[in-house]
Amino acid sequence: MQCYYKAVFRPCNKLNCIAYLRAMAKEVVLSGIRPTGFLHLGNYFGAMRNYVRMQDEYNCYFFVANWHSLTTHPDTKELRNSVNRVVAENIACGLDPEKVALYVQSDVPEIAELYLYLNTMAYKGELEKTTTFKEKVRLNPDNVNAGLLTYPVLMAADILIHRAVKVPVGKDQEQHLEMARNFADRFNHRYGNVLPLPQAFNYGGELVKILSLDGNGKMSKSENQMNTLYLADTDELIGKKIMKAKTDQGPSTPNSAKPDYIENLFTLMRLVSGADVVGKFEDDFNASSEGHCIIRYGDMKKQLAADMIEFIKPIRAKAADIQENKDLLHKITRQGAEKARASASETLKLVRSAIGMNES
Ligand code: TRP
Repeated sequence: MQCYYKAVFRPCNKLNCIAYLRAMAKEVVLSGIRPTGFLHLGNYFGAMRNYVRMQDEYNCYFFVANWHSLTTHPDTKELRNSVNRVVAENIACGLDPEKVALYVQSDVPEIAELYLYLNTMAYKGELEKTTTFKEKVRLNPDNVNAGLLTYPVLMAADILIHRAVKVPVGKDQEQHLEMARNFADRFNHRYGNVLPLPQAFNYGGELVKILSLDGNGKMSKSENQMNTLYLADTDELIGKKIMKAKTDQGPSTPNSAKPDYIENLFTLMRLVSGADVVGKFEDDFNASSEGHCIIRYGDMKKQLAADMIEFIKPIRAKAADIQENKDLLHKITRQGAEKARASASETLKLVRSAIGMNES
């Protein structure tokens, strides 16, 4: 077993070596959620459902990345509500604040200090080359602030502050993760082996991808809202959105390949309906051909709408209850921050000591 702290605590005595004790404990998993927009089915099946499965097996840290949001200059009054909503929705989806550390980024000042140190490990050239940065510059040429440029450094600090090794993220975040590994590696070379290198983590293989109901790209937190199913949508709205989802005249030959937007309806159905229901529509689809269309997309959507409403209803209700209960929200985020700060300050001690900072 590798001892990360050899360079810091020498000699490494197994009985009191923190690295040894940590290695014997559960691995650290961490992920962050930006509080912009509403959580949708893609977030649920692509991320939150996996977080819930991880909470028993790993030492989990999940947080709301409100500092990150400031880089795009949102209305901060709205931001407070969004933070609360994200916390409430995550709990409604099954995260247990007793089992995981569920916290708000700005409640953990240790992250900001590590961000400062890591900024000296990040080069302007590589930051400017980051795909997400280039995209933001293209979309918002009037707001190319330094926070935007160093977004990947803050994200690295989020991860490394808990010495997390497994980071469940989507494909679009893998470049950031690679940068986090580079910053950690450079830190370790310069100051001593303190920071383990984090890896992307897809629990149980392929992530479920959910397309927008018009078949144009993925569901989105803020765009194309009439084609995205949000966890906060009313029954009526869920029904309306599904009934107007894109379909066509049906397959032209038996057993044909499904177009994306039809496959997407089947994907959704597999997630929320019974196997017999899905099987019936699969059979109808496969038996259909031009001039002999057995599958009725109208019926399929009606069934999907009914099952989706049943699926979302309890999550929406629980999230609303929690969101209204400000005392409970406060208690949960306090408790999360306490857990996160305990772990963060332990890392910061090692980091400072490796650098030779604040040692009297
Ligand atoms: N950048 C991530 C996103 O846009 C959110 C995030 C911030 C994050 N810090 C993180 C994800 C740390 C994983 C780990 O979705």
